[in-house]
Amino acid sequence: MFLRNPFAGAFGFDIGDLSLKLAQLEKKSGLFGRPDSFNVKTLRAIDLPPGIIVNGEIEQPELARKKILFLLGKEGGKFQTIKTPWVVANLPEPKSFLKLIEINTESEIPTMEDILYQAEKHLPYDLEDTYLDWQIINRDKKNQITRILIGAVPKVISDSYTYLLESVGLQPIALEVEALTLARALITAGKEYHKEARAILDLGATRSCLIIYDHNTLQFSMNMEFSGELINTALVQELKISYAEAERFKIKHGLTHVKTSPRYLTIMTRLANKLSTDIAKSLSFYHDRFPNPNPITHITMAGGVANLSNLDDFLSRKLKISTHPGNAWKNLLPNEAITTEKRAHGLVAASVIGLALHASQKPW
Ligand SMILES: Nc1ncnc2c1ncn2[C@@H]1O[C@H](COP(=O)(O)OP(=O)(O)OP(=O)(O)O)[C@@H](O)[C@H]1O
Ligand SMILES: [Mg+2]
Repeated sequence: MFLRNPFAGAFGFDIGDLSLKLAQLEKKSGLFGRPDSFNVKTLRAIDLPPGIIVNGEIEQPELARKKILFLLGKEGGKFQTIKTPWVVANLPEPKSFLKLIEINTESEIPTMEDILYQAEKHLPYDLEDTYLDWQIINRDKKNQITRILIGAVPKVISDSYTYLLESVGLQPIALEVEALTLARALITAGKEYHKEARAILDLGATRSCLIIYDHNTLQFSMNMEFSGELINTALVQELKISYAEAERFKIKHGLTHVKTSPRYLTIMTRLANKLSTDIAKSLSFYHDRFPNPNPITHITMAGGVANLSNLDDFLSRKLKISTHPGNAWKNLLPNEAITTEKRAHGLVAASVIGLALHASQKPW
């Protein structure tokens, strides 16, 4: 254990296909047993032009480097320079894998061989090409079952992110799968949920995923075929409008009727229906295939597309589960400091806030 944080100033860095986001927090230790609170020292983001990172793969590393140096304030002069090299960054969700698995062994702590052997049965990749990380969650003594959360990513992907970060002078303390990050920001810290499970629905510019949180741990995450770009493409093709118009239309009207464009709502409803059907399938998969699943009583939305007006009501009605945009500041700031505007802005910042919490809380 370290007595003082050896990674002072460590920040969170969310690398997406179309955006880079950075958040740096300052921890204020809670006195007399109160929880810690945080100052947001830095929160900034820039757009990435399409083609630099595609589906989580770094296609144009030189351009990615330039954009990162700009965001770090080391080039371009727009931002104040971030001096610390310590960073906690995300691994691309479509390329990573996360699942809670059960291992039946007599010993309390399974051997590494046991874990590797069992993990291999679940992994979508070859073990030798994969970085695997795990965390023992709990042990069912009666049935001699140990539950372990495994996270995995192809080595080529993880190495390319490490290399990119090091090439701009950063030192990654951790690279994390997005499901863990989002849960850290959006599930109330320290709260015990009894006989109910939660889902997190992250709706981003290029990708979306559903994450199940039950028995006070993550259970699994699944990619959803839905995104801000998917909506824009459909509107461009079917309404014969420009990309910029599609983006404006979507943000202005969400899932509501537009007098001047009767087809708009039909297209949006079709996409939202497909999302709702895919969520329902994933929830059934969880209920049918996982041990002792609790009912999912709430879906917390994050990501910019969670701002789409009426989507929360639409999903609540279709799925018969209350679905609402989450509060990414709740483990950071006191309630009274979270304005409606801040809360809405927190949806796009949820991932980077989760990474920054990791960076400033317990980076080692
Ligand atoms: N009010 C709004 N209504 C609907 N969509 C919105 C709204 N505001 C932003 N968006 C959409 O949210 C998306 C950006 O969200 P976010 O910042 O979470 O994505 P990202 O993290 O860059 O992408 P990804 O997670 O897919 O890598 C864009 O597609 C944008 O059009
Ligand atoms: Mg995102």
